[in-house]
Amino acid sequence: MSASAHPDVMDKLVSLCKRRGFIFQSSEIYGGTGSVWDYGPLGVELKRNLKELWWTSMVRLRDDVEGLDAAILMHPKTWEASGHVAGFTDPLVDCKTCKGRFRADKLEDARCPQKPSKVPGQHDACQLTEPRMFNLMFKTFMGPVEESASTIYLRPETAQGIFVNFLNVQQSCRQKVPFGIAQIGKAFRNEITPGNFIFRTREFEQMEMQFFVEPGTDMEHFERWKADRMAWHQSLGLAADRLRYHQHEAGELAHYARAAFDINFDFGGTLGFQEIEGIHNRGDFDLSQHQQFSGKKLEYFDQQANKRYLPYVIETSVGADRTTLAALVNGYREEAVAGEDEGRVVLGLHPALAPIKAAVFPLTKKDGQPEMATRLADELRRAFHTDYDATGSIGKRYRRQDEVGTPFCVTIDSESANDQRVTVRERDSLAQVRIAMDQVRGWVQERIIA
Ligand code: GAP
Repeated sequence: MSASAHPDVMDKLVSLCKRRGFIFQSSEIYGGTGSVWDYGPLGVELKRNLKELWWTSMVRLRDDVEGLDAAILMHPKTWEASGHVAGFTDPLVDCKTCKGRFRADKLEDARCPQKPSKVPGQHDACQLTEPRMFNLMFKTFMGPVEESASTIYLRPETAQGIFVNFLNVQQSCRQKVPFGIAQIGKAFRNEITPGNFIFRTREFEQMEMQFFVEPGTDMEHFERWKADRMAWHQSLGLAADRLRYHQHEAGELAHYARAAFDINFDFGGTLGFQEIEGIHNRGDFDLSQHQQFSGKKLEYFDQQANKRYLPYVIETSVGADRTTLAALVNGYREEAVAGEDEGRVVLGLHPALAPIKAAVFPLTKKDGQPEMATRLADELRRAFHTDYDATGSIGKRYRRQDEVGTPFCVTIDSESANDQRVTVRERDSLAQVRIAMDQVRGWVQERIIA
């Protein structure tokens, strides 16, 4: 793990996210649930915007990818076929001294709780056990009887819901290979060493797409998706120098993968570059496993070539929470403001991601300004998320919006009643323009598209 040139802003972000209503610890009043988080009013907008952008680019703008929303609970055989029952395990070691639990294969990323300058096992007092394998799937029971026959799992990835529906979607939509199926949904993993805020959690959302292709054409599709997905992250405003590919070498490849690249983002500090998305060539592993375990043929019939085959799959799998964190880290900055003692904190989110697109302020509470501002805010709300704020100095109101990433602030002043114009101030450049009140909606809309 190499330290990043970018500062570690995680503690500041955790505090901002709680203070401003982005992200709260789950069940906080009971002391919290380990590595499970709730999205507050601004966080839910931010994550919804991210998911919407993914859905638009992967499903709506393409005619070769269909959408799906499969159930979280699946037939238990699914997870035998996928290899998760036998192989979705991490090696776990316990420390008999501090009672800490660590992933044996990631000891270098962990810190000894008693001596944080050392990794577990390096401190004289450490007494690590031999590694034992630990399955990451959450088990539960279907129906009233808690016996092994009714054991089911919370899905650890959304992908399997796509594989088992491959023919349903292909036939109902009359799709021809190559085509893809995309879905967004919750996944659950009983991670041994979760942490770093919403980076690694036990309940999270994935945005996954499986692209079914004819064997032999797989690597060309793989290369195209690899490039497309990197371009998507850049289109969200993630800085190019904070993004890089990481190729999985033979020993690192998952059991299903013929080739794999991660897209890594530099989270700053000691966390540094970490995976936010995986692009995998899964071959026909999944379809052939499901075919074998279900006893149902999952072959595709190519009418033109008059042949049947099991397609290969190129998968793109990105974490909605982890990419939300990347956008927050990427956008967070502290700036000095000329002529002011106090600087400003800015969340430089891409306007398409920003939870609030515009904030409307009356400059004063006189001359009908609040009424005009309320009317304008109500009109803007019909098109995008808009805030109205009439409290505190105008400078304070700007700071409040900068800190949550609002790209545009619109002020009604004493002239507005006469000329029907307002001042729009842009978050990053601080530039101010005076525009007609009835053009604000269109003006903002043009600027919040990714
Ligand atoms: N279907 C393939 C698959 O699930 P993965 O690399 O295990 O691949 C894909 O996960 C993405 O899901 C990761 O790149 C990451 O963004 C997200 N992810 C995985 N585990 C996570 C966790 N515990 N917390 C948050 N996000 C996670």
